[in-house]
Amino acid sequence: MTKILVVDDERNVAAAFEKLLGTQGHEVVTMQRAAAGLECLQRDSFDLVILDIRMPGMNGLEALRQIKKDHPKLPVIIMTGEGTMETAIEATQCGAFDYQIKPFEPEEVLAVVERALLGARMMKGQIAVDPEQDAPATEAIIGRSSGMQEVYKAIGRVAATDVTVLIRGESGTGKELVARAIYQHSGRSAKPLLVVNCAAIPETLLEGELFGYERGAFTGAVSRRIGKFEQAHQGTIFLDEIGDAPLSIQAKVLRVLQERTFERLGGNETIRVDVRVLAATNRDLEMAIAEGGFRADLYHRLNVVSIPVPPLRERREDVPRLADYFLTRFAREMELDKPLLAEDALKQMEKYSWPGNVRELEHCIRRAVIFTRGYPIQAADLPFNKSNGNKGDARQRPSFSEGRLLDLVRDYLDSYGGDHAYDDLIEGLEKSLFAEVLRRTRANRTHAAQLLGLPRGTFFTKVQKYDLREGPED
Ligand SMILES: Nc1ncnc2c1ncn2[C@@H]1O[C@H](COP(=O)(O)OP(=O)(O)OP(=O)(O)O)[C@@H](O)[C@H]1O
Ligand SMILES: [Mg+2]
Repeated sequence: MTKILVVDDERNVAAAFEKLLGTQGHEVVTMQRAAAGLECLQRDSFDLVILDIRMPGMNGLEALRQIKKDHPKLPVIIMTGEGTMETAIEATQCGAFDYQIKPFEPEEVLAVVERALLGARMMKGQIAVDPEQDAPATEAIIGRSSGMQEVYKAIGRVAATDVTVLIRGESGTGKELVARAIYQHSGRSAKPLLVVNCAAIPETLLEGELFGYERGAFTGAVSRRIGKFEQAHQGTIFLDEIGDAPLSIQAKVLRVLQERTFERLGGNETIRVDVRVLAATNRDLEMAIAEGGFRADLYHRLNVVSIPVPPLRERREDVPRLADYFLTRFAREMELDKPLLAEDALKQMEKYSWPGNVRELEHCIRRAVIFTRGYPIQAADLPFNKSNGNKGDARQRPSFSEGRLLDLVRDYLDSYGGDHAYDDLIEGLEKSLFAEVLRRTRANRTHAAQLLGLPRGTFFTKVQKYDLREGPED
């Protein structure tokens, strides 16, 4: 569960944040004074701070400076009114992750919070490289196949340098883990890592996000904005899904790689940055070049050092270790004894092609542990065995009995007396489904949301709506 500290002298603002972030399952602590907030940070560890600028006593900017000194990697989002815009810009230059102007758009706040938390997650904890012990305390990269050995060697070779690295591989192969391992073993590990997912940010916003803009650069640019490249000065930037960046942005990224300079959008000032660039993509860049979607010069620049992460089907010998690692992790998370994995189940897993790679295997084990609740996992408990022969699709539907469902609907309609048949049935069904999944996951809402394949926020909102019993730790 993530822990967020909100510091604002206005109680109702703090309370609004508490409510909004609470719907996403975050734990929120609120403080009315900067000094009290700083004390909190000494006592307890947080994943994110949301800080008002104008407060009686120590102001937000002073507090930010102190936080950046004591916890350089802790992301801080600044809140500001129109009147303190200039301070907000100064704050981003001082290392604030981003700022939000009051009054807030809840959607926008949640998006910024998610982005900040993603970066925080990537900086947190040490990634162990295939540790010996059965249950490593932290996250780990698992696998001893020759393909993975090459990956580890490459991480070792590049980590301590400042060289740009391109991490390539299919979706779910572990590119993000590799990027984190490089960052953590680099000389810049005490400085922040900023993450920009080039595929997740709309094209029109991506340039501003990366390079910033000046006031008036375009309609809606009401003030200067500092981009992630500038914020990452002396640190590291991770350009995820670089293969999806539009051509105009590719040109600007190329220039940063070559000259370490750029201009903010709509600005004349040339900004020089000292940034280590890590990039990742699951795209076939050679093909993208041939089709005109990717610049060859940027490709050559990025590809000087590239780390290919092999798909799981090309390193099936890693499957048993990976399965064991995830079994241990999930059993511990769910406070169960580690379940046995039946021999035939493991055999099937070794034969399966894993189109979704390690991510699919991770989900497969998680589901199996949730459903078997500590009993041995048999081949029949694996999702890809329940399919009707379509091996390529990881998201199979279990074959529930349509007849029984139809009986239920008939009974329902026969006895229904209201005039909202649709809403009432769907809500009733949904409530039962959620209640049952919460029971099976022993009220762990994060696991329940994962099992249902729903975003956590959506799930939590519904749990509140139906007033289902809240779970313990997520
Ligand atoms: N070798 C590994 N050992 C342990 N866990 C792994 C390994 N590879 C991947 N994982 C886990 O699988 C999941 C997917 O990995 P990751 O997010 O790094 O994939 P990716 O290559 O970045 O995928 P995408 O292209 O979809 O972004 C994560 O939960 C990650 O922790
Ligand atoms: Mg990724």
